[in-house]
Amino acid sequence: MRVIAVINQKGGVGKTITSVHVSAFLARRGKKVLLVDLDPQANSSLLLNVKASLNELSIYDVMVEDAFPEDVIVDTSIENLSLLPSNLNLAEAEIDLVEKPGREIKLAEKLYKSIERETFVGSYDYIIIDCSPSLNILTVNALLAAKEIFVPVQMSYFALKGAGHLIDIVKLVNEELGHGVEITGVIPTFFKEGSGEDKEVLKKVKETFKDSVFDTVIRSSDIYDKAAAQHETVFDYKPDSGASSDYKNLVKEIIDMEDDEEGKSAKKGFLSSLFKKTH
Ligand SMILES: Nc1ncnc2c1ncn2[C@@H]1O[C@H](COP(=O)(O)OP(=O)(O)OP(=O)(O)O)[C@@H](O)[C@H]1O
Ligand SMILES: [Mg+2]
Repeated sequence: MRVIAVINQKGGVGKTITSVHVSAFLARRGKKVLLVDLDPQANSSLLLNVKASLNELSIYDVMVEDAFPEDVIVDTSIENLSLLPSNLNLAEAEIDLVEKPGREIKLAEKLYKSIERETFVGSYDYIIIDCSPSLNILTVNALLAAKEIFVPVQMSYFALKGAGHLIDIVKLVNEELGHGVEITGVIPTFFKEGSGEDKEVLKKVKETFKDSVFDTVIRSSDIYDKAAAQHETVFDYKPDSGASSDYKNLVKEIIDMEDDEEGKSAKKGFLSSLFKKTH
């Protein structure tokens, strides 16, 4: 099982589009995938047309109340892809978690317990966590539940602002909380072909993140918005588009990582290492 948090504290850089498209295409390739929507904006849930209304169970109940992932997970219209949906209740989670002991490891703890009890939660090949644009307690929960971090980086002048901060936070979490999560994939997004500026930014991204930058670059395309308006992925909305082939190429690279040492240790390590250390 690979558990991957999709994080960038900058808003609108493609976290949700990446989480949904990577999840959807991994599922098409036969992987069993759980997408965790850890953002009160609930954009992943909306894109997949899953409405967890405010009085229904959602990720909030997993993070703050007694619910377990298996009580909340729903199927999506995409075969092999399940979703742990979010809604606006999650906006309260930060305040509601303040008093709770172990508030940084709620997500890890709930997932771990579900797996330990041999529920279906243990059968996923991939758990992908779509985070909100902040480094709040929810994002720290994602960091501590994950073994890998993917960072979508928008090709723009300000793209690298904050990247250093994210690297520092990851280091801090690992050192202070005895975790071993790593930035294993940086995804260039909103790339405009023919733009000299974007090429420059990409160069700088590669200097900062070195080998962890994927070879695949996600180009800028208006198809994402059009597809999302229909609650579809670009694979269904326009299968022969550049957008569709970009995310297919990215997923190929992600699957290829399974054979790497990193992939192997990610599979072995996961939550058990965290819980051995802290419990
Ligand atoms: N490669 C792309 N080219 C053009 N538009 C894109 C691309 N990726 C995402 N978008 C669009 O840009 C907007 C922001 O994308 P997305 O919601 O994935 O970002 P995000 O990082 O999840 O945002 P937030 O920080 O608010 O959660 C959306 O309207 C989405 O459809
Ligand atoms: Mg988002």
